[in-house]
Amino acid sequence: MPKPLELFSILVLHGPNLNLLGKREPGIYGVVTLDEINCLLMSEASKLQVQILPLQSNHEGVLIDAIHNATEHHGILINAGAYTHTSVAIRDAISAMKKPTVEVHLSNIYQREAFRHHSYIASVAIGQISGFGAESYRLGLQALVHHLATN
Ligand code: DQA
Repeated sequence: MPKPLELFSILVLHGPNLNLLGKREPGIYGVVTLDEINCLLMSEASKLQVQILPLQSNHEGVLIDAIHNATEHHGILINAGAYTHTSVAIRDAISAMKKPTVEVHLSNIYQREAFRHHSYIASVAIGQISGFGAESYRLGLQALVHHLATN
């Protein structure tokens, strides 16, 4: 019997430089702004009947504190930006909190520079979606809600 979806609350974390979306390297990241991505997620969350709380920070510790404080949330959707490739600390925070986590990226990190091919988040995430622009977030939210509803 699937669980009622309106019970689910999801923390959406956007890492460093993602506040610049729309202006930042549009050939790689597109022209959609972070506000527009959050609106897209709000609209998808309403269709899925779940709640989301979006937070962007350029600071590793703020993201870690948000993960520690995610006790009331059922899952985490995260684009850790460049911290994806560097942060054992964010990886450890996700591992410690044991909240189902989906990793998303606008760009296909595996088609880019070699240093972007490794993700510290991937091994503690239930899955990763990479390369679909802003749509990666919507797909990631759908995948996370599906996981929560069926596990
Ligand atoms: C990114 C990919 C990262 O390599 C990069 O540092 C970012 C954005 C993406 O969404 O494609 O800041 O996470």
